Amino acid sequence: MELLSLGLKNFRNFSQKKIDFDPKLTVIIGPNGSGKTNILEAVLLLSGVRSAKVETDLDLVKFAKSEAKIEGEAAEIGVKNKLTLNMQVFDERFVKKAYFVNSIKKRFADFASFASVVVFEPADLDLVAGTPSFRRHHLDSLLCQVDKDYWRNIGAYQKIIARRNKLLIRIMEGKAKKAELDFWDLRLLEHGAIVSKKRAEFFEFLNFVEGGNALYSSSERSESRSSSSRLRSNDKMWTAPMSDLAFILKQSELSREKLLRNRDRDIAAGITLSGPHRDDFRFMHKKHDLAYFGSRGEQRMAVLSLKLAELEFVSLKIKSRPILALDDIFSELDWNHRRAVLSTVSKQQTIVTAAEVDSVPKQLLKKAKVIELV
Ligand SMILES: Nc1ncnc2c1ncn2[C@@H]1O[C@H](COP(=O)(O)OP(=O)(O)OP(=O)(O)O)[C@@H](O)[C@H]1O
Ligand SMILES: [Mg+2]
Repeated sequence: MELLSLGLKNFRNFSQKKIDFDPKLTVIIGPNGSGKTNILEAVLLLSGVRSAKVETDLDLVKFAKSEAKIEGEAAEIGVKNKLTLNMQVFDERFVKKAYFVNSIKKRFADFASFASVVVFEPADLDLVAGTPSFRRHHLDSLLCQVDKDYWRNIGAYQKIIARRNKLLIRIMEGKAKKAELDFWDLRLLEHGAIVSKKRAEFFEFLNFVEGGNALYSSSERSESRSSSSRLRSNDKMWTAPMSDLAFILKQSELSREKLLRNRDRDIAAGITLSGPHRDDFRFMHKKHDLAYFGSRGEQRMAVLSLKLAELEFVSLKIKSRPILALDDIFSELDWNHRRAVLSTVSKQQTIVTAAEVDSVPKQLLKKAKVIELV
């Protein structure tokens, strides 16, 4: 799919802005603070993704304004659709969002399937050594983008965890009975099982495309092969720029028995101690955890491998290439890393941002439509 144009009104630092993208490659150059990342954030929002840096939707609306609008024209195999996201501020406190496709109001889940983007930003380079919650957020926003069912279940799961945690505290204070947990536990198990399964499937995909994975025994490998073959595309197999790399999902078990066994501990802690909200994943290179044993360059190459695999995963899931957005990453990468990224740029519409034109590889600039922000 391609995004042909983007229109912004009172979005972040922009009062009014119109951008026409090249269907293949656009490079946006602008000094720090000129709004490059904000433009990519608007593209993400049209794809139904909220970036991690948003604390409240109020942040999205230009300071002191009461409404904002993002508009985009997306094309999929020649069919164009106008996507609109309206944001209205109420009481200076909260924002109501409304979604439209070709001026017809849509539910969020229906709107979100019209555009798709994979963003690669410098913050991603911290995935290996960053916090588990950073990795989980990354994983969730990827899976939510391609899988409505995941989106529904993770949303429900997180709400139930919050309700259950409140109940745990009330039980601790003697204001509620332990048996009240039964209801929430059942629902937690129901949604948690789907979240766990879909996360595991993604990691099977990651490690399958990786190929020749030293961490898997042959039986484990054939197992993971059979279940990920559903996700496999026959024509385009992806190879990581780093060999002997494995992405290991560490799932925190969620079962009825464990919930019952942990009940008293959960009550004492006032939080739910196990389940998918405690999952994490690790980047392993030659069986060593890169968070502890990887050089900075190796960690970056591992993240690059993950991002490139994500691009293939999204392509497979939505049966089309998503937009690739590279947010000022070249200045952070050495030549080895740059080559790995450049090899994929021509496969889909790509939007590159940079603060300085010199940090963009020359071979990209030659082919790109260049837009300058001031
Ligand atoms: N709600 C808002 N209203 C007005 N301005 C905002 C709002 N949110 C963010 N900004 C401004 O947008 C600017 C940041 O834009 P952005 O992060 O897109 O810049 P950038 O071009 O990516 O910069 P860099 O090169 O440093 O990454 C900041 O100056 C910030 O104050
Ligand atoms: Mg930026």
